[in-house]
Amino acid sequence: MHIETKAIHAGRGVDPSTGAVTIPLHPSTTFERGADGPFPSSYEYIRDDNPTRHAFETAMAALEGGRAAVAFSSGMAAITAVFEAHPSRGNRIVVPDDMYFGIRSLIDETDIGRRFDFVPVDMRDMDALRAAVVAAPTGLVWIETPSNPLIRVVDIRAVCDLAHDAGALAVVDNTWATPLLQRPLEFGADAVMHSATKYIGGHSDLMAGVVVLPGASPLERPLRMIQRHKGSVAAPFDCWLALRGLQTLPIRMRAHCDGALKVAEALSKHPRVESVLYPGLPGDPGHTLARQQMAGYGGMLSFIIRGGAEAAMTVAGRLELIVRATSLGGTHSLIEHRASVEGPKSMAPAGLLRISVGLEHPQDIIDDLHQALSAVE
Ligand SMILES: Cc1ncc(COP(=O)(O)O)c(C=O)c1O
Repeated sequence: MHIETKAIHAGRGVDPSTGAVTIPLHPSTTFERGADGPFPSSYEYIRDDNPTRHAFETAMAALEGGRAAVAFSSGMAAITAVFEAHPSRGNRIVVPDDMYFGIRSLIDETDIGRRFDFVPVDMRDMDALRAAVVAAPTGLVWIETPSNPLIRVVDIRAVCDLAHDAGALAVVDNTWATPLLQRPLEFGADAVMHSATKYIGGHSDLMAGVVVLPGASPLERPLRMIQRHKGSVAAPFDCWLALRGLQTLPIRMRAHCDGALKVAEALSKHPRVESVLYPGLPGDPGHTLARQQMAGYGGMLSFIIRGGAEAAMTVAGRLELIVRATSLGGTHSLIEHRASVEGPKSMAPAGLLRISVGLEHPQDIIDDLHQALSAVE
């Protein structure tokens, strides 16, 4: 089946007890045990498993071309679980130097940073990556592409091969691309992680995370045990919303990509814009690789305004349609001055604004940016 069809049907079917076409929400925390002992439905307690969560996990596994999926209460819970679950071949984890800032906060401000040795590297530089991976036994290589907020594209297959040659696992954060634009398991990744809070949910109204695994995986049992016993599981209602979001993910991603390309092209022609970071632009350093690896260039872009932080804040402050807010992947276009959000350790240039291009008409987004940019002309 095509991915558009899987997005609607995988893990779901007409409810046999009522004939309901859309999947019912099962908020029940507990399930009846048979008089003879076993649980006839196989469900027992919500933390172990739940029909709505099970359907979401099954659907995600189908979309990513995996065999199993494990859903968590947030993207960060999923990331933490992967770090904790990776086989203990040394506690060294190689991460991208440009990555979702929440991981840096997780490292700096929780015991995760003390328990593991995190090594940041620019994964576009294969020599630097090889040096980092072989310098000491490495258990895990964490990949994020396109990256946040510099929108860099990393060669998933090459990084996975390099990690495997060194005996490490390779896991991809596929939140920004979604399985519609790239399926990292096809390039050899050992797992794919999503913040379902973003494009999968798609409407800025749920929080969940998920890890998808290919065939037999050394990560599966530890991830299941972390999910079950540490307890950061996805709630049934969030899974139900995510399943609803999945149904329109293919058409939403097409519209996000189309809108982002038009916005990127318009911004790249503006005299106050120094550069636009978007792999859909032919001059972007990630363009050729993105064309090979992705089925679209994504809905996220960053641009750097001449005049640094002050000019960037002035432009963001003048916007009338695009909302100044964090997060991404919803219907509303959102803009963020990443340097001030991330603080002194940010890789984001002072003049950088990141946009999550929503589903409004692209021309309205462009008009809003033009009127705001006129404040600094
Ligand atoms: C690429 C990426 N990964 C992970 C996360 C964390 O997800 P959550 O906010 O659902 O914990 C985010 C959140 O912005 C993200 O952008």
